[in-house]
Amino acid sequence: MSQQPVLLPYADPAFVADPFPLYRQLREDGPVRRAVIAGGLDAWLVTRYEDGLAALSDPRLSSDVRDASDPRLIEQLPAFERESMMSNMLRSDPPDHTRLRRLVSKAFTARRVAGLRPRVQEITDRLLDAVVPAGRAELVADFALPLPVTVISELLGVPMDDRYDFQRWTDAMLVRGERMADPVVVDEAWRQMHAYVTKHLEAKRARPGDDLMSALISAHDEEQRLNHDELIAMTFLLLVAGYVTTVNLIGGGIAALLAHPDQLALLRDRPQLLPDAVEEFLRYDGPVSPGIARFAREDVEIGGVTIPRGAMVLVASAIADRDPTRFRDPDRLDITRRDNSHLAFGHGIHYCLGAPLARLEGQIAIGTVLRRLPDLALAVPPAELSWRPGGLRGPVRLPVTFSPP
Ligand code: HEM
Repeated sequence: MSQQPVLLPYADPAFVADPFPLYRQLREDGPVRRAVIAGGLDAWLVTRYEDGLAALSDPRLSSDVRDASDPRLIEQLPAFERESMMSNMLRSDPPDHTRLRRLVSKAFTARRVAGLRPRVQEITDRLLDAVVPAGRAELVADFALPLPVTVISELLGVPMDDRYDFQRWTDAMLVRGERMADPVVVDEAWRQMHAYVTKHLEAKRARPGDDLMSALISAHDEEQRLNHDELIAMTFLLLVAGYVTTVNLIGGGIAALLAHPDQLALLRDRPQLLPDAVEEFLRYDGPVSPGIARFAREDVEIGGVTIPRGAMVLVASAIADRDPTRFRDPDRLDITRRDNSHLAFGHGIHYCLGAPLARLEGQIAIGTVLRRLPDLALAVPPAELSWRPGGLRGPVRLPVTFSPP
């Protein structure tokens, strides 16, 4: 199929605020659409639900960027990430993936995560205590961001003193590939993040505790089940994956409710709908947008289109999650929706390891905000909300007002 790649216009504020009209057009254009994504990279977007589901469990599609033919994919990574950060489970295929995932999967089972409920509630309440008297807050910086950072840091056993540095580095790293990113700033952020992770690993090695980082160190030192680079990459992945996406789920979920007063009223009325509501936020406008990258190990046919070996395949979960052949009335936010098996957490062997934790945090965070902040309203007109562009989507800031007690 000869197709002109369509440019995803990340420089266009209208697209960044609401990419769904273009997403819909891409899906209607065909099951596979060539596109130029963030960083000027060429990708083949899989736009429909059934094809997306199949692609995410297709072993011919690799998660290892070294299977890509476009050298820019590797070259654009800071030198330093190429050396050590790539050895993480998200970017590896079996058998390495199987071994790495097994090392940490026990810490994230639904049962283990359910045990964290009281602590997550406590952190949530403490963060809200600080803003409630004022009657106004910026819910990303004051709430959606510190909550998951605190939870994942505690799980790993990393102290919180460096939280603000940590946030600054991750922000700088995540704008990589977007137009405004300054490579020097990005590279420096990676370097500092590496130093941070290494410093804490050494401290933990000297004084092990009952936490995930100590368990990983012991898997490295005593059992040789992961090498040094893998140990750093795993810590780094858990810290970053466990935080940025969840910020966007919490911030994006609250923003979606504020834009749909009928759904907000319904959820206040029937808080037992919270778990369904969180699934609907993930489907309707999930944090990973447009989707999940893979690399074709050989020529692969999807929906009648042959994708050449070495190409980047972007399984566009955010587009597929509004596929009308899978979801009735897909552009409607409906917190009572049933049979809502969206692709926001992926599918197959790389299915989000942190999904139970993200769900728990999303439910507690959004439920508690609704309970404790009556008359919640945006402090700015909705059109003035700014959104993170490509890759990971969510509101940058969420200024709100509410009635103080
Ligand atoms: C994998 C989304 C929260 C850890 C993934 C994948 C997606 C995703 C789409 C699959 C990537 C792929 O197939 O290549 C999300 C969303 C979240 C979230 C939308 C929040 C709403 C978390 C949290 C953690 C986490 C809280 C906690 C540690 C991971 C890890 C992987 C992963 C380690 C790699 C799994 C593997 O490769 O086997 N996530 N995630 N995520 N996620 Fe999440």
